[in-house]
Amino acid sequence: MKLKQLESLLGSLQQFDNPKIELEQYPTGPHIASRLLYTAENSFGDVTDKVVADFGCGCGTLGLAAALLGAEHVIGFDIDAESIEIAYSNADELELDMDFVQCDIRNLGLSDRNIDTVVMNPPFGTRKKGADMEFLSVALKVASQAVYSLHKTTTRDHIKRTALRDYNARSAEVVCELRFDVPQLYKFHKKKEVDVAVDLWRFVPKTDRSKDS
Ligand SMILES: C[S@@+](CC[C@H](N)C(=O)[O-])C[C@H]1O[C@@H](n2cnc3c(N)ncnc32)[C@H](O)[C@@H]1O
Repeated sequence: MKLKQLESLLGSLQQFDNPKIELEQYPTGPHIASRLLYTAENSFGDVTDKVVADFGCGCGTLGLAAALLGAEHVIGFDIDAESIEIAYSNADELELDMDFVQCDIRNLGLSDRNIDTVVMNPPFGTRKKGADMEFLSVALKVASQAVYSLHKTTTRDHIKRTALRDYNARSAEVVCELRFDVPQLYKFHKKKEVDVAVDLWRFVPKTDRSKDS
């Protein structure tokens, strides 16, 4: 599938009706989502025929992009039942198979390690400090091949150091820097959205099953 076609299909997806700010529910737009998955497949071969997990899947955008690129099996995990319902209906609309699990990412364990690749746009930790790092820690425990994740550029040094030192990462590379429209999460902010610099990361976990790249 061509990049433009992928972006256009993702642009048709329904997004959060009533975003819950405490869960940092804002969607990854079709431009960034399509490029994230396209890069994961075309530059690294991490999607087609792989088992892909979408952590904090929300309305399913990243996972559905993986399914559109030929992932063997896609599972979306989110703590919020309402988002998962929307994600189900998005999968139906696109006639794609995707499984969903309602759970807190922090409760996933090593037994879930039949996952090749994790893709995620985790909460940036604006509402709950450290939420981004909790997602990353679990992703690097369950993925056998790669983790793709978006994090604020201001946290770059911290992410790299912690991933390599404490979170089981064999490598941690910024693939590109992006601008991300994030809704303001506090009432006293005047503007509705802010443009935030965000890094797209690719992490390779330390595991016997990971391949050299
Ligand atoms: C920034 S949104 C990203 C949504 C979607 N992945 C996307 O890219 O459009 C973060 C998502 O993480 C979910 N979330 C927040 N905390 C969570 C937790 N502890 N366990 C599972 N999901 C969580 C939220 O409900 C929300 O859907």
